[in-house]
Amino acid sequence: MEAKQIYDGHADLWVRQDPILLSDYSARPRVLELCGDVQGLTALDLGCGEGYVGRQLARKGAASVEGHDVSEGMIAGAKKTADTLGLDHLTYAVSDLRKADFGDPENPVDLVIAVFLFNYMDAASMLRILKRVRAVLKPEGRFIFTVPHPMLPWIKPAEKPFYMRPVGGYLSSTDVPFPGRIWRRDGASVEVQAVHKTFTTYFSSLAAAGFTHMPHVEELHITADHVALDPEFFGPLTDLPLHVAFSLQP
Ligand SMILES: C[S@@+](CC[C@H](N)C(=O)[O-])C[C@H]1O[C@@H](n2cnc3c(N)ncnc32)[C@H](O)[C@@H]1O
Repeated sequence: MEAKQIYDGHADLWVRQDPILLSDYSARPRVLELCGDVQGLTALDLGCGEGYVGRQLARKGAASVEGHDVSEGMIAGAKKTADTLGLDHLTYAVSDLRKADFGDPENPVDLVIAVFLFNYMDAASMLRILKRVRAVLKPEGRFIFTVPHPMLPWIKPAEKPFYMRPVGGYLSSTDVPFPGRIWRRDGASVEVQAVHKTFTTYFSSLAAAGFTHMPHVEELHITADHVALDPEFFGPLTDLPLHVAFSLQP
């Protein structure tokens, strides 16, 4: 299924001000830490969804955050929340990043984030975006992206609060879409997708796009504090790598 269909279908379940989805605990706080001090920085948020991460960059002092997403429903939610909160340095555009250009190489930005975007496209589309990221990022800028952990479909049963169901083998299924689901702590769940890519694909794509610095890579997971907060929800995820964060300079 196309990402636009998935996200237009349940955009309302994504709209949130406070952490509620599993990945609001297991991934997004770490993305914000990796962004570091964003005071006065210009940022692009690729696959911004309803704007949860971009709003936090704005709260931490980013000068501007430009969000792009293929889902009209998600962008409508992002704009509504920004209007309500009076965050007028947040701007949004509906665009399919597999085809549309973003940013301006003549006016490069300090920071690009892509939080769970690349799991909705094949490796060729990801490579096209990676090349554009390099073109629109300042030489001293930073690029941070997260994806589901490539091994997760094989090591985590298809149960709550997060799973990706494998359709084929680890090495032979590059570019095959795997269906998945992620839960919120209130019991609601949303459909997600992982177009499978191996670690080799991520690293070779970064090199093919012209990135020359060694990326900082982290396998993201829940912590003992999460389990203490809500043992029933987080407990089943103990000791599992859930997502991967890449942080790099051009
Ligand atoms: C898992 S959501 C994450 C949203 C947001 N980054 C966050 O962390 O809350 C993935 C988002 O990627 C968007 N997306 C998927 N494919 C896209 C594409 N080709 N172009 C732009 N956005 C896309 C979806 O519409 C969805 O909003």
